[in-house]
Amino acid sequence: MVKSSSSDKIRILVIGSGGREHALSWKIAQSPRCGKLYCAPGNGGISEVAELVNIHAEDIEGLLRFAMEQKIGLTVVGPEVPLVGGIVDEFSRNGLAVFGPAKELARLEGSKIFAKEMMKKFGVPTADFKAFDESDDAMKYLETRKGPLVVKADGLCAGKGVVVCKYIEDAKDAVKKMMRDRVFGDAGSRVIIEECLEGEEASILVLSDGKTALPLASSQDHKRVFDNDRGPNTGGMGAYSPAPVVTDGLFKKIMDTVIHPMINGLAKEGKPYKGVLYAGIMFTKDGPKALEFNVRFGDPETQAILPRLKTDLVDAILASIGGTLDNFKLEWDSRACVSVCLTSGGYPGDYEKGKEIKGLEDAAGMADVVVFHAGTKLGGRATDAHRLFLTTGGRVLNVTALGGTIEHAINTVYEAAGRIHFDRMHYRKDIGHKALLRVKV
Ligand code: AMP
Ligand code: GLY
Repeated sequence: MVKSSSSDKIRILVIGSGGREHALSWKIAQSPRCGKLYCAPGNGGISEVAELVNIHAEDIEGLLRFAMEQKIGLTVVGPEVPLVGGIVDEFSRNGLAVFGPAKELARLEGSKIFAKEMMKKFGVPTADFKAFDESDDAMKYLETRKGPLVVKADGLCAGKGVVVCKYIEDAKDAVKKMMRDRVFGDAGSRVIIEECLEGEEASILVLSDGKTALPLASSQDHKRVFDNDRGPNTGGMGAYSPAPVVTDGLFKKIMDTVIHPMINGLAKEGKPYKGVLYAGIMFTKDGPKALEFNVRFGDPETQAILPRLKTDLVDAILASIGGTLDNFKLEWDSRACVSVCLTSGGYPGDYEKGKEIKGLEDAAGMADVVVFHAGTKLGGRATDAHRLFLTTGGRVLNVTALGGTIEHAINTVYEAAGRIHFDRMHYRKDIGHKALLRVKV
């Protein structure tokens, strides 16, 4: 474990309520720098490591008031909506240390057109695209094209704004829904139509202080609800780290062609990017290409990355804010980590809530296992001796295990998942299998 000075304890606030925020809170709580830890609004599992604050993650004014009153020394923002809404500018204006990009740069996630324009400007490899702000123009353009194509709403759509279209008719339908029917509201007032790429995907996240980009370990998400990447897209059904598809050579190439051009390009324009920059990468036959940028930690990638991080996360975040990442090193556990999401039956469609979760202690008591909560709350019959958790969301738990090999981590995580039960529980049985195949080859 890398040592940090425990001289100044800091009061820390984590914003958000999912598995990512449980992983962040769990890791931050282990820091010698961490004084009182709060999470707003948090969830049942997070209440075991932080005091929950009943303020919504999107209520920037309410969060600011709380942080001022409680003299919060560091705020870590989980989800994108408050970042895109300008929470970093608001907190900074009031002298509060906060980890994330300013509103202008949070547009890298908040506007897909802005992200594409920046990629083009800085020469980052990405799919060819055209942006439209009139549906008639988009429709006319589609007449000149052949499928497959990808249609993307410009604004934030909670992960639902991307439609991969095999045929032009599907693309027209997507444009109609986004631009004319406004199914995503104003987020669909502008769209991108882009070339459809093929290949395996991985997530590369870096901490940036505006000048230096310090990469986190590679990871891979599993977006579809059923095994073998079938069924509708979800917020993420599981993740593992490292992702063997990202060889050392490819890692370097991504840093050289995607991450550094972005961070350096923005710095040269006088817009230093501070916070986590998340690049969604597709490994095409022409090399790695950036699909998207997010301006925050990934969910569920974070649940598979942080258990491998040996370095104090609070020190790393403070170095990002303070602009001293050039002197900072991250140390990693060489073991593999696999995180499997247990969901409510029916998710990502309609599902029932309020189901009692059984077997949590049995699973979490296993060696090298940690269970992060995504959608739970403490139930009414909970006592100090017996904590009763109820489901409150589609994604309920992220069962996570470390293993000397990816195979070992997979075996352990599924043994742990098998000890947990709630009515209509669903999970994918193939998290990590792509990594397993690569390792075997
Ligand atoms: P994004 O929000 O841009 O990452 O898109 C979500 C998902 O859509 C990605 O993880 C990919 O699986 C898929 N996707 C996005 N852009 C493309 C593209 N140009 N070609 C193929 N698939 C894409
Ligand atoms: N894992 C996808 C995301 O965090 O956006």
